[in-house]
Amino acid sequence: MLKYETINFAPHNDKRGSLVAIEVNKDIPFEIKRVYYLYKTQNGVRRGFHAHKELRQILICTSGSCMIHLDNGHDTAEVKLDSPEYGLVIENNMWREMYDFTDDAVLLVLASQHYDEKDYIRDYDEFIKYIKGE
Ligand code: TYD
Repeated sequence: MLKYETINFAPHNDKRGSLVAIEVNKDIPFEIKRVYYLYKTQNGVRRGFHAHKELRQILICTSGSCMIHLDNGHDTAEVKLDSPEYGLVIENNMWREMYDFTDDAVLLVLASQHYDEKDYIRDYDEFIKYIKGE
C-alpha cells in the first residue's frame, strides 16, 4: 500500500459557517504558481492518467467527493477526498487518476508550476521506464 501525505486545514468556524485559509510555506510546502479546479465532471468519468516530472500538487475536494488513484510504479493507493478541510499532496513522479466524482464535486488543485505539457508523462509504460531510469 502506497504511503501518501494529507494536510489538514484548520477551519475558522463560527455561527455564520466555516472558512479555511491556506498560506504558502505555512500550511503547504511549496509556492503556488497555478490554481485550477475540476467541476461538472460527468457520471462515470475517469480522468488524469498522467504523472509529472517536476510538478507538485495539492488536491482539495472543496465540495462533494471524488476518489484519487495513486501509483508510484511500485505501490498504489485509492484516496477518498470528501472534505474542504484536508488536501492530498501529490509529489512528482506519481501516476494519478481521478474517478467517482459526485455531481456536486469541485476538485481544487494547487500547483507548484505553470502549465507545461513537457512536464507531463501521459503514457503509463513511459512512466514506468522514466522512474526506473532515474
Ligand atoms: P487535461 O490535462 O486533459 O486534464 P486531466 O489530465 O487532469 O484530466 O486538461 C484538460 C484541458 O485543459 C487540456 O486541454 C489542457 C488544459 N489545461 C490548461 O490549459 N491548463 C491547466 O493548468 C490544466 C491542468 C489543463
